Amino acid sequence: MFSVFSLEKALAEASLWEEGEELSEKARLCAVGQPLVSWFEQHARDLPWRKEPSPYQVWVSEIMLQQTRVEAVKPYYQRWMKTLPTIEALAQAEDDVLMKLWEGLGYYRRARNLKAAAQKLCQDYEGRLPRSYEKLKTLPGIGEYTAGAVASLAFGIPVPAVDGNAMRVVSRLLGSYEDVSLEKTKKRFAGLLKEAMDKEKPGAFNQGLFEVGAMVCIPRGKPRCEECPLASLCVAKKKGLWDELPVKPQKKPRRIEEKTVLVISNGREVALHKRSDQGLLASLYEFPNWEGQMLMETPGEAEEMLGLQPGRVCAIWPLGEARHVFSHVEWHMVGYRIEVIDKLPETWICADFRDLEEKYPIPSAFLAYKKALF
Ligand code: ADE
Repeated sequence: MFSVFSLEKALAEASLWEEGEELSEKARLCAVGQPLVSWFEQHARDLPWRKEPSPYQVWVSEIMLQQTRVEAVKPYYQRWMKTLPTIEALAQAEDDVLMKLWEGLGYYRRARNLKAAAQKLCQDYEGRLPRSYEKLKTLPGIGEYTAGAVASLAFGIPVPAVDGNAMRVVSRLLGSYEDVSLEKTKKRFAGLLKEAMDKEKPGAFNQGLFEVGAMVCIPRGKPRCEECPLASLCVAKKKGLWDELPVKPQKKPRRIEEKTVLVISNGREVALHKRSDQGLLASLYEFPNWEGQMLMETPGEAEEMLGLQPGRVCAIWPLGEARHVFSHVEWHMVGYRIEVIDKLPETWICADFRDLEEKYPIPSAFLAYKKALF
């Protein structure tokens, strides 16, 4: 059932709506529910987290899907569920195991928050996710979007889940020039959606919006309006505004950090460093690196840089340049492979080559240099 008051009005308005006439925002969104839900039921992609998911599975998938593409998430989700099938298993997971499962997904805080929330669930909620939008929001890493997604998809609670996809679809549907990066726009759209949403199938309504946003009303390039179940209701389609909407402010340019990365090995082991437990890539492992791009051409220069006795470095060769883009920073790196005789300097963690794949979570920023070892 759609929200009674608004649905009646909406349908009355929508059925009276003729080309050229204006439909109110509420009426437009209320008229969206039915075609959106039936389209989703026919066109939903077959994704691993959509096969009768438990609340835990909905939660983990929604966290993984934030800032990450569906195709990239699939193998991570499957590995995670095999290794940590329950909230209790997650609460007890070793941090390195957790980070290894997340290695390459980025925004590692998401995984740490999942564990912290699982511990809270074990302490306060008998290891289960609460059936309440408000209580879900009190858990670490769960904001309005995730609480809305878990509440609606897992528990059938009629609350919206407004992510970037939903914002883009609503902005185009309404022909709205409001800045979608602003909290007040998000609140207003969420309020409209809450009134308009299908109260019997809130999960299908919210997922329908993600799906239209991901597959039809796409962020870059021309939207596939001919496939859109909402095309007849869409202001942007009617007025040809798709390339102007949604309105977002220009992003600030990212700060550039230059680095020199050293892959120091002795044929069996490689030197690693564990990053601090605060800030970017907290607690992950990295190859030793320094600020600035250095030129290092001879074993003598490497020995001086590393404070090693003359003769300890038997070879040095360049690994070239690599770049990694984070949300606010870009690393522009140069790398060198350095072979030392005997033991690696004790300042570093001496990691067996074989453990690099299984044991140490190394962020993908270093992937180009990790490859140099194999
Ligand atoms: N993006 C956010 N949530 C999603 C979901 N459940 N399925 C596909 N894409 C999504």
